[in-house]
Amino acid sequence: MTESLTVRDNRTGQEYEVPITDGTIKAADLGKIKSVDDAPGLAVYDPGFVNTASCRSSVTYIDGDKGILEYRGYPIEQLAEKSTFLEVAYLLIHGALPTKEQYETWVHEITFHTFVHENVKSFMQGFRYDAHPMGMLMASVGALSTFYPDARNISDAENRHIQIVRMIAKMPTLGAWAFRHAQGKPYVYPDNDLSYTANFLSMLFKMSESKFEADERLVKALDVLFILHADHEQNCSTNAVRSVGSSQVDPYSAVSAGVGALYGPLHGGANEAVLRMLRRIGTKDNIPAFIQGVKDGNERLMGFGHRVYKNYDPRAKIIKKACDDVFEVTGVNPLLEIAQELEKIALEDEYFVQRKLYPNVDFYSGLIYEAFQFPPEMFTVLFAIGRTPGWLAQWSELVQDKEQKIARPKQIYTGERTLEFVPASERWA
Ligand code: CMC
Repeated sequence: MTESLTVRDNRTGQEYEVPITDGTIKAADLGKIKSVDDAPGLAVYDPGFVNTASCRSSVTYIDGDKGILEYRGYPIEQLAEKSTFLEVAYLLIHGALPTKEQYETWVHEITFHTFVHENVKSFMQGFRYDAHPMGMLMASVGALSTFYPDARNISDAENRHIQIVRMIAKMPTLGAWAFRHAQGKPYVYPDNDLSYTANFLSMLFKMSESKFEADERLVKALDVLFILHADHEQNCSTNAVRSVGSSQVDPYSAVSAGVGALYGPLHGGANEAVLRMLRRIGTKDNIPAFIQGVKDGNERLMGFGHRVYKNYDPRAKIIKKACDDVFEVTGVNPLLEIAQELEKIALEDEYFVQRKLYPNVDFYSGLIYEAFQFPPEMFTVLFAIGRTPGWLAQWSELVQDKEQKIARPKQIYTGERTLEFVPASERWA
């Protein structure tokens, strides 16, 4: 038996049978409901897409109530513990884990494409000395579309593959150079003898030594952070990538839109905001007054709350463990004490309990990044590097999905109508 919804329009008394598929109804079916024949059909008002499915996707599964996150069916906890970022990237893009041979080819391809054209270096050097690295990343990844004009040929699978490889490979190079720019230090070229994450650390921190060798525990922790950020189904930046990608533009332009969306403090910028918040609180004694300010609606407890996780964010648990590993190498971040106390108080406070507000991935990630000596402006860049395979897996799915159309939401028009225009010469006379 097909499931359906019977809708009675009380304006006309007419009843409609609306099919239910996969727990959803088609908005277009509601469009058939009209008060009179030539009236616009019924539409759904949903600012922020709180209850609207925009696509079918087999990339990432989330059950927010149960705190479950899976990439292509594999639980995030297992991937974080046993996989590598590049293997996870392969999984997200291809939909299945690689064989040994497939993995080696994939790693070779990504490694081979870490260099960028020298012109990219010149235009990055043209940014102001204090340019935000996220702005530099957004601009430079978008600019890659001018270096690879063939990328607009999105219907060709081989072509899509090469652009995906290029982007995953080059994001760390662009991100590291944006960091070096702000420091006034020379840009470091990729070292292709190193792993993906170790090479990124080398491009960030290498000075005059002939080879940069990062502590393996730090490499592993950063790799885990990349895995945790690799995808998160239809979040704001992925929606931006899909929305822009739906115009059939090249993937560099679509991903640059994703970087822009991620830049915002309610999305990827939250960990930067967490750190600023912890610093502002300063000591444990100031926590009660701060919490009161949040409850009075004067500000938000950054790093808390999530649109989908209403129980706990599974990524936050893994990050807490990574904190311990990193602090073993770097020494404990003094802000950790304030963060832990803040979490303890908030988790017991009625305001947060009632609204199901728990620490999200960003609550502790900033502390780890700071231990790596990253300035807060770099945090979102790290998020963007991790999220790139997810954006591209979703983009790839979008361009092959026959049901997808150019993104074009409706609106409820609230402005004036049919005003009589009086030319300026008469209005101002
Ligand atoms: N501090 C205090 N109150 C909060 C917070 C918070 N962090 N988050 C939500 N609330 C309150 C909110 O005021 C509202 O209360 P009321 O019902 O009295 O009006 C209620 O909880 C529901 O909040 P909402 O804004 O409707 O929830 P949302 O799903 O639209 O927002 C969110 C989700 C993540 C934007 C929000 O929780 C937030 O702003 N958190 C702080 C920023 C943050 O940490 N963002 C990182 C998200 S995870 C990383 C990523 O995926 O980008």
